[in-house]
Amino acid sequence: MQQRNNINESKTEFLFESDAEKVAIKEAQEFRKPKVYKLILVNSIVICTIMISCFYFLSYYEKNELANIKATIIQEPSYKNLENEKLNNSSNNLKTFNNYYNKYGILINKANPITENIVSNYKQVIVENNIFNNIKLEEETYKQYLKLKDNLLKRGYYINIKSGFRSFNDSEAIYKEYEISKGSNYAEKYVAKPGVSEHNTGLAFDFVISKDEQSLKTNYDSDEYYYLENIAYLYGFIIRYPKDKEFITGYSYEPWHLRYVGKDLAKYLKKNNLTLEEYYEINKE
Ligand code: DAL
Ligand code: ZN
Repeated sequence: MQQRNNINESKTEFLFESDAEKVAIKEAQEFRKPKVYKLILVNSIVICTIMISCFYFLSYYEKNELANIKATIIQEPSYKNLENEKLNNSSNNLKTFNNYYNKYGILINKANPITENIVSNYKQVIVENNIFNNIKLEEETYKQYLKLKDNLLKRGYYINIKSGFRSFNDSEAIYKEYEISKGSNYAEKYVAKPGVSEHNTGLAFDFVISKDEQSLKTNYDSDEYYYLENIAYLYGFIIRYPKDKEFITGYSYEPWHLRYVGKDLAKYLKKNNLTLEEYYEINKE
């Protein structure tokens, strides 16, 4: 009974709110309204801030992209302008990059000579089953060469190495021999002096390829040469002195000279039709 009375009392209080209470409640409700406005205001500010940030981010990104594109254009080698220059002047175009730390990607040319100390980083091994004797190649170069040779054999094409690793003394002797027999102009275009020959590392070699197992000559218009030229990169090799790029490499077209640079770099150079000189020019720091 006592409990019932209490319920009734509170119900009574509720039902008969005083005018003062009603006003207080109304005021409280009124007081709450600005909170809704505040919420809307805060939300609007947040949304605006996000939109402004997005806008700035996008314009910054766009600006950066443009800068990158510009940088790429600026970094493009200006070799094209030099196209008409005579091969004799080609050494003047060479730049020094000092990239001797890159074992297989090393750039060796008249502007990037190597020392015998650098040469000692390259382990030479004897080339077997070759129609020319006493040939040596750098260890990894030889391993990849054997894989290339196998691939060619499956098609009935025979590759043989004519000249591989050359000591500084060998290079000196070869240069002199050419100078005497063909003149210094010829020697300068086709033969590298000691320290500026890739042969000094054993990463490069001169070869013959033919359908005839014992052939000492290559037909550069043949299927076998075309095939080799197009698959060599799969084993890490490039034709180091291509046609029409004499003014970049500093040497005449040498279709017989393969250079090992490693699979990734060879693929990149082949796909982008670049010489090592162009590669280092584009990727210089
Ligand atoms: N024939 C190339 C340039 C060399 O002698 O290394
Ligand atoms: Zn060569």
